[in-house]
Amino acid sequence: MKLSSANINVMVKACRKAAKIIIRDFGEIENLQVSLKGPGDFVTNCDKKVEKILIEELQTARPNYSILSEEIGKINNDESFRWIIDPIDGTVNFLHGIPHFAISIGLEHNKEIICGIIYDPIKDEMFTAEKGNGSFLNNQRMRVSSRSKLKDCIVFTGGPRPDSKNRELDLKEYSNFSTKTLIPIRKLGSASLDMAYVAAGRCDGFWQRNLKYWDIAAGIILVKEAGGFVTDFNGENDYIENKTILVTNSKISDEMIDVLK
Ligand code: 2AM
Ligand code: CA
Repeated sequence: MKLSSANINVMVKACRKAAKIIIRDFGEIENLQVSLKGPGDFVTNCDKKVEKILIEELQTARPNYSILSEEIGKINNDESFRWIIDPIDGTVNFLHGIPHFAISIGLEHNKEIICGIIYDPIKDEMFTAEKGNGSFLNNQRMRVSSRSKLKDCIVFTGGPRPDSKNRELDLKEYSNFSTKTLIPIRKLGSASLDMAYVAAGRCDGFWQRNLKYWDIAAGIILVKEAGGFVTDFNGENDYIENKTILVTNSKISDEMIDVLK
């Protein structure tokens, strides 16, 4: 049993409150699939409601912290602490009634992520991590997998997005992976959960181009505290600037970098 820090408790409380709205609205999605208009606006609305609850809760507990959030953008306060929020990561799954999406919140201190939470409200799986204190799934310690040969692994990826400028490159990387390794590749549609699953040892590696900071902020600390590596496609630290992220159990990084080239 772990002892949660004050910041983690704030994040957990905000997620649990917002999750009630997500679960209720997800229950309505099935009815909307058959309507002429479809569930598009409904999902956007849900995203905004969830974001509002998260921000209200976080601001009540920590009035001075800054915020970067997917829908509303930036709220600038104390620059040294900042919440990075993705209210629903995996929106396309949500829209189609597929129960695989999450709330993702990271906390930055002096530009470094120090706490993260990824909450899958449908499976009731709460992934949390704090710098120096390890990663947890529903209060149980989690570790990355120990597989050391890529040929024995399962990996995740996502994209390309419809508006991707690197569409050809994206597809080439996928094709490289598929033809050079012959291992199972999955596209589950939620980058935050992809990273949480690497941290939990369910998946051995994940790569993707063009993700936004809020897609990955919480995942970064979850993976690192579970013993994994987060780099760009060259194995360097510039994954935010370069917009290429490679997440591994640490053992298969070199092999994945070779395949992606
Ligand atoms: P989102 O659900 O919050 O939009 C899917 O590959 C992952 O990439 C999801 O985490 C998704 O986050 C993110 N993503 C962001 N914009 C996307 C887009 N236009 N198309 C597909 N995925 C996108
Ligand atoms: Ca997202």
